[in-house]
Amino acid sequence: MALRDILIHPDPRLKTVADPVATIDDGLKRLADDMLETMYAAPGIGLAAPQIGVMQRMLVMDCVKEEGAAPRPMVLLNPEVTWSSEACNVYEEGCLSVPDQYADVERPAEVEVTWTSLEGAEQSERFDGLWATCVQHEIDHLNGKLFIDYLKPLKRQMITRKMQKLKRERARA
Ligand code: NI
Repeated sequence: MALRDILIHPDPRLKTVADPVATIDDGLKRLADDMLETMYAAPGIGLAAPQIGVMQRMLVMDCVKEEGAAPRPMVLLNPEVTWSSEACNVYEEGCLSVPDQYADVERPAEVEVTWTSLEGAEQSERFDGLWATCVQHEIDHLNGKLFIDYLKPLKRQMITRKMQKLKRERARA
């Protein structure tokens, strides 16, 4: 397994719609391992393939937060939201591609998602709470959308300028 570099906003790849996963092979399984390792190391609760520059519809997540609880690493290929609740939740979201920036985002409180597993099986599950927010945030990444796109333009521009500055500093270091 290997840690992958996480792209930082602004980056054109983070604004691009990713392609469906067509083949499940050993390379894809290694990619899933790398994404989980990169997510846990960050640390984060979700990571989408475009965030490491792989333009495929694939995401990993694990929203288990309770101390001592067993982890639940999930790998979702070609995920689709098939149902959303009318009730919404507001969570303070962050993103590994927008480090140290947090803002309230309102989304459906519950969603049903179907996807293909790494074993090639069709799966479906209804998510709520943090899981629902996380899976919607990660699916957005597959469509070239970031959580800051839900914010008012002024706030979004402020965060983008901070990220541009961060990237300049990192490039110099
Ligand atoms: Ni994100």
